[in-house]
Amino acid sequence: MRILSPLAIVRLMEVTDHPSSTDQRARHWENVYEGSNPDAVSCNQPEPVASLELLDVLGVAPESGVLDVGGGASVLVDRLLARGFTDLTILDISNAALRASRQRVGNDARVTWIAEDLLSWEPTRLYDLWHDRAVFHFLSGQEVDGYRNVLRRAVAPGGAVIMATFAPDGPERCSGLPVTRYSADEFGAVLGSGFQVVEHRREVHSTPTGTVQPFTWVAARRSSV
Ligand SMILES: C[S@@+](CC[C@H](N)C(=O)[O-])C[C@H]1O[C@@H](n2cnc3c(N)ncnc32)[C@H](O)[C@@H]1O
Repeated sequence: MRILSPLAIVRLMEVTDHPSSTDQRARHWENVYEGSNPDAVSCNQPEPVASLELLDVLGVAPESGVLDVGGGASVLVDRLLARGFTDLTILDISNAALRASRQRVGNDARVTWIAEDLLSWEPTRLYDLWHDRAVFHFLSGQEVDGYRNVLRRAVAPGGAVIMATFAPDGPERCSGLPVTRYSADEFGAVLGSGFQVVEHRREVHSTPTGTVQPFTWVAARRSSV
């Protein structure tokens, strides 16, 4: 029998630890959130500064239908409610993450909470804005196509997209999972025809433990036909 070195074992774990089913994904993210303070999840940010600035760049009005995919325990929903938004949907695979947000926000008719795997979710309406911070970069292979299909079914003609992933010089892993890192140019190909990148930027996020995570942000508009 061949004995693997510790480094080889770590490498093997890195290529095989990608959760490939809804059950595995749900279990992974429940473990990340359950028992941990949501503020300690490494991607957590105290203020969704870039999201709000890009919303303004795109001119997203408060009556717009906004979908935050993988919204987790982010305070984006709180900040959008404070700005007078009336039609917010927060989708996440983790019940624990949604529970943390719901406890903060309380019962509010302006917010719809959806506990689903984005990759098997069937949107039943159109949204004016698709927002994703730090979800897409966990996907690989066919999952990327699945994500793109859901996005294209959910975003209204003339609607918009704000997405953020780790930048090419960002970490290779996050929350215990491997990630794919993207440049702004690569986003164009991800979104495909009919989407025009309006603005892109780089943001360096400092985690609660003090490490840095460079992000690529893209704001894009879908053509109206
Ligand atoms: C790194 S966190 C980012 C959370 C939030 N967007 C933020 O900026 O703080 C990734 C989030 O995506 C959720 N997630 C991961 N894969 C998902 C999937 N396939 N469908 C829905 N949510 C997913 C996780 O539960 C987690 O809340």
